[in-house]
Amino acid sequence: MEGTSSMLDAEAVADLVLLDPLTEESLVQTLQERFRRHDIYTYIGNVVISVNPYQALPIYTPEKVEEYHNCSFFAVKPHIYAIADDAYRSLRDRDRDQCILITGESGAGKTEASKLVMSYVAAVSSKGEEVNKVKEQLLQSNPVLEAFGNAKTVRNDNSSRFGKYMDIEFDFKGEPLGGVISNYLLEKSRIVRHVKGERNFHIFYQLLAGASPQLLQQLKLRQDCGHYGYLDRASSSLPGMDDAANFHAMQDAMRVIGFSPAEVTELLEVTAVVLKLGNIQLSSSFQASGMEACSITDPQELREICELIGLDPSTLEQALCTRTVKARDETVLTTLTVPQGYYGRDALAKNIYSRLFDWLVNRINTSIQVKSDEQRKVMGVLDIYGFEIFQDNGFEQFIINYCNEKLQQIFILMTLKEEQEEYVREGIQWTPVEFFDNSIICNLIENSTSGVLAMLDEECLRPGVVNEDTFLNKLNQLLAKHKHYESKETQNARHITDTSLPAHCFRIHHYAGKVTYNVTGFIEKNNDLLFRDLSQAMWASRHTLLRSLFPEGDPQKVSLKLPPTAGFQFKSSVAMLMKNLYSKNPNYIRCIKPNDTKSAMVFTPELVLAQVRYLGLMENVRVRRAGYAFRQLYGPFLQRYKMLNRRTWPRWDGGDREGVEVLMAGLAFPAEELAFGHTKIFIRSPRTLFDLEQQRQERVSQLATLIQKMFRGWRCRTQYQLMRKSQILISAWFRGHRQKNQYKQMKRSALVLQAYARGWKARRTYRKYFRSSASTRVSNFIYWGLVQRYLLGLAKNLPPLAVTDRTWPPAPYRFLDKTNQELKNIFYHWKCKKYRDQLPPSRRAQLQAKLCASELFKDKKTLYPKSLQQPFRGDYLGLKQNPKYQKLHAVAKDKLVMADTVRKVNRANGKTVPRLLLLTTEHLILADPKAAQPKTVLSISDIRGVSVTHFSDGFLALHLKEVSTVGAKGDFLLVSDHLIELVTRLHQTFEAISGQVLPLHITDRFSTHFLKGDMSITVVESPKAGTDGPVCKKKGSNKMEVLVH
Ligand SMILES: Nc1ncnc2c1ncn2[C@@H]1O[C@H](COP(=O)(O)OP(=O)(O)OP(=O)(O)O)[C@@H](O)[C@H]1O
Ligand SMILES: [Mg+2]
Repeated sequence: MEGTSSMLDAEAVADLVLLDPLTEESLVQTLQERFRRHDIYTYIGNVVISVNPYQALPIYTPEKVEEYHNCSFFAVKPHIYAIADDAYRSLRDRDRDQCILITGESGAGKTEASKLVMSYVAAVSSKGEEVNKVKEQLLQSNPVLEAFGNAKTVRNDNSSRFGKYMDIEFDFKGEPLGGVISNYLLEKSRIVRHVKGERNFHIFYQLLAGASPQLLQQLKLRQDCGHYGYLDRASSSLPGMDDAANFHAMQDAMRVIGFSPAEVTELLEVTAVVLKLGNIQLSSSFQASGMEACSITDPQELREICELIGLDPSTLEQALCTRTVKARDETVLTTLTVPQGYYGRDALAKNIYSRLFDWLVNRINTSIQVKSDEQRKVMGVLDIYGFEIFQDNGFEQFIINYCNEKLQQIFILMTLKEEQEEYVREGIQWTPVEFFDNSIICNLIENSTSGVLAMLDEECLRPGVVNEDTFLNKLNQLLAKHKHYESKETQNARHITDTSLPAHCFRIHHYAGKVTYNVTGFIEKNNDLLFRDLSQAMWASRHTLLRSLFPEGDPQKVSLKLPPTAGFQFKSSVAMLMKNLYSKNPNYIRCIKPNDTKSAMVFTPELVLAQVRYLGLMENVRVRRAGYAFRQLYGPFLQRYKMLNRRTWPRWDGGDREGVEVLMAGLAFPAEELAFGHTKIFIRSPRTLFDLEQQRQERVSQLATLIQKMFRGWRCRTQYQLMRKSQILISAWFRGHRQKNQYKQMKRSALVLQAYARGWKARRTYRKYFRSSASTRVSNFIYWGLVQRYLLGLAKNLPPLAVTDRTWPPAPYRFLDKTNQELKNIFYHWKCKKYRDQLPPSRRAQLQAKLCASELFKDKKTLYPKSLQQPFRGDYLGLKQNPKYQKLHAVAKDKLVMADTVRKVNRANGKTVPRLLLLTTEHLILADPKAAQPKTVLSISDIRGVSVTHFSDGFLALHLKEVSTVGAKGDFLLVSDHLIELVTRLHQTFEAISGQVLPLHITDRFSTHFLKGDMSITVVESPKAGTDGPVCKKKGSNKMEVLVH
């Protein structure tokens, strides 16, 4: 194994814990030897030491990523990938939030290391469209932030001028979901001033070199760096850095992150404004009052700025050259001197840029933030500006070094102090290791009452004359006796002549070396004030982005409260960062800078030794060697490794500690490798842990095989049982089905056999008993069969019951003809009877009358067929209803049979007169139609007979008995429109009274008896007859001719 062999290589041990002998010299030598072999990474336990090679090494290829992926930390060569992999796996598998702390001085390779960690995590986490997009966005945040936040310094061509802490958030599967970036104090003084040989932020050079002519024109910029006051022509381009290409890369990155083209344009416009502000020149003039004032020398640049941001040039001019001062309730406009004007201009440029940077970080955060609210695991990567010592160190260096001091403190706390304290707490035998605890320096800076930052804040807020001298005096007074504080004054007091310490300076003995800070600018930078007129002018612009950067410029929101100082803000954000880091499992990458010339493969031992010292690497190794590489609470430890011992697997019923002891006893590690604390087990060397992990992995894969085996067995068994059950069920059903079919077939056969046997038996019996009279019986049987079929057939197909329907089916056999005819008659009569029975009495009487009429007149009188259609209505006068006939109605009473109008033929002249005729059950009454009075009342029994003609006329002669009273006058000759009905009803009434048939003569010649003697009447058919009825003509005294037609 590559890693293992190099571990044991005495000349260049991969883990400095194995170094023998352990001296500063051997340590540096080992680092140098490894560096020479291009092994730039070395471990101290699980801390990675990285020496900047200043050249591209082939150790970051995808194959390398694959090699380190899921590999045990100690099984491979030391690499930044190994620590990244360890942290990622611990996060994914052990559910522990991680942080990777990358420390080292400026140019030591922190930013490169952080990018390597991020790209490794991105490469090994799972792939998928959404995940890849997230990863791309996270990675692409680097070129954007580097363009705006990095600059060339004397120590590093790509020096981070801001602190960056990035939380990468993962889901439970270890897939990146997004992230959050926090930025710390951008070195904004660089905007307006930088040391010779250094550069302003990259973005300005990138913009001028990479922007197309159209874009430059749109931003009102010129490509020439020398044209801009804030830039430096000499270092406009850097060897090995292609600003134009970087500009395009940055634009692409912005697109990937999700910046809209409008946002990019706005961002570049604001950047151009910062650059152009540096070109605004002021010149002094004197006002009429004799006061010095300043004015814009060349308004062209100002006009262009205002065009870019949509602002009235006079507003900006006024804000740059004057200042509104509030004195009591009055506001006074005072003019500014030229230095004051430049101060305001620079403050504005710095403020715009630093706020723009904050906006940029927030905008990136908006894109990369996690959208879902599922549970997350976090890996934080801290890449903050490294410890730096310049010729002239200002407020920024002070802040940067304070931050590094805090990081060193965290390192000391977590690796040296805490570790040793833990041994004591856990009751492990321990010889304390001496180390330098830098809390005293941290305290010197951050103590809230006597710390340098607190003093500075106090000075900034104090009324009265305040300047750097008063601040320094205060420090000298308060910190005169502090071991890590020096100044000219304190040195003098100690009678030490120190020419390297000028006035206006103080010196702090940092963990990494002594740094002399020049107090000039401390107060101003800490106050970080911007004239209100300028922020109001910015707010007044129509440029959305720029306006949003200056919310305090809104005149509605004017606040008299002073904003928190830069030092205060930084201190609190560092405190928050520390809290965040403490809550996570730390992983360290300690970067070392091998030379001061940025040269490839040059190793300056003195320089490295200084870093080894202040990084406390020796102490780190010592503690590591004396101490234990790994510790864990008994519970989780037992849980993780219990499968390595039969007694603890699968369940241990005793206490956790006993369980761990039993477990480890079974594993036969050397006794000195283990220590049992009160709550934790300690394992001395990483190798033992590595062995333990390896055994666990083997055992886990054995167990996995066992589980797989059991599961597969179980699955096959259950599947087999299921199949068996199904098979039994299917065969049961099949057998049942077969048996059922067989049974049915047998049953059918048995029935056939039975039928045959029974038939045979019956035939035999039949033959025995009926052989003698067989033929008669058979013929009778057939005969009755036929008759039965005929009758049943008739019964089923009886003809309709309508009396007019005379259909009847023919007889199927001749021998049934008579019967059929008989049945037809019976059926017809029965049908008629049935019809009659259901008739109401009135209808029955009517039909009886019709029948009677038929018997009397059918085929005898031509009028008869006409009468068939007319119903016999009886009362044609409406006696009851008509009041005129009231008297007649009274006479007839209930006995009325018929009432009609007739015409009576005058016996003397043959003329006719109308009369009303009433036939009752007893009488026949003739009445005068006008008076409606009865004129003649005849008893029915007095009627002797009736004569009518053959023709279709209504003429009739009523012959009376001569004995009757009325009969004395003689017979009546009448003409009726309802002759048939009248005669029929008369006939019926007569029969009812006398029980005899009324003699009816249908003749054309008959004689009548009148008072004056008998008269012979001859009926003649003649066309001369009137349409109203027959015409009677007297022919002599005893003859009358009746003309009818
Ligand atoms: N692993 C590496 N391989 C090759 N070159 C490297 C490596 N690490 C760093 N460098 C080189 O060193 C230079 C400085 O590194 P980097 O910017 O990471 O330093 P830094 O520690 O972040 O400094 P600062 O504190 O100033 O930001 C890089 O620009 C690169 O050229
Ligand atoms: Mg950096």
